[in-house]
Amino acid sequence: MDPILIHVPDTLVTPRLLLERHMPDTGKDLYVPAAASQVELARFLPWAVDGIFLDQMESHVRRQHAQFTLRNELNYRILKRTDGSTIGVTGFVKCQWDIRQFEIGYWLATTETGNGYMTEACQALVETARTALQSTKIVIRCDTRNAQSANIAMRLGFEFEGTLRRFKRDAHGDWTDIATYGLLT
Ligand SMILES: CC(C)(COP(=O)(O)OP(=O)(O)OC[C@H]1O[C@@H](n2cnc3c(N)ncnc32)[C@H](O)[C@@H]1OP(=O)(O)O)[C@@H](O)C(=O)NCCC(=O)NCCS
Repeated sequence: MDPILIHVPDTLVTPRLLLERHMPDTGKDLYVPAAASQVELARFLPWAVDGIFLDQMESHVRRQHAQFTLRNELNYRILKRTDGSTIGVTGFVKCQWDIRQFEIGYWLATTETGNGYMTEACQALVETARTALQSTKIVIRCDTRNAQSANIAMRLGFEFEGTLRRFKRDAHGDWTDIATYGLLT
């Protein structure tokens, strides 16, 4: 089936969080937590290295809105249900529809880490992949130095599958080894 015909929910609800598909004019909501977390994000996310800018964030959410429609990437803004504040992003950053395999990516505002929010958000993604997307496998990949990211995969029951050594260079020119975690669904 053409992936564009597959229903993917625009909104996911968890006990503490709301996950909403990126929409035009929400760039400013993401800009605030991202800019405040720039140093931490830049450790592992290349797009944050040269700074975080409001107009780039708005361009990003508009492109992501289109990518969601095309089913190329399925990313969501994460809001806290208590106060509606935006605290980060997660979603399927790579969709292999032919074999129904999906890769999860994420970032969280530094002030919101340590509460289990991202694990909770990713659990909702796993359930969505199993049901709406009829996934066969879900993948999380991260820099081997990114223990917080690896811990999310492990908490969700993903298995460590191996490390791709010297996969790329980081922003400082140092080699990055990438660990892969997989969940057969
Ligand atoms: C990766 C990242 C999202 C992890 O954030 P995090 O807060 O550690 O992850 P969670 O929100 O799932 O919270 C887990 C932490 O909350 C604690 N916690 C508290 N209540 C919890 C609950 N109800 N359920 C689960 N964990 C809970 C856990 O013990 C854990 O803390 P610990 O690592 O000290 O043991 C964050 O570090 C980040 O955005 N980093 C920068 C961007 C990045 O690296 N992205 C990934 C690229 S691959």
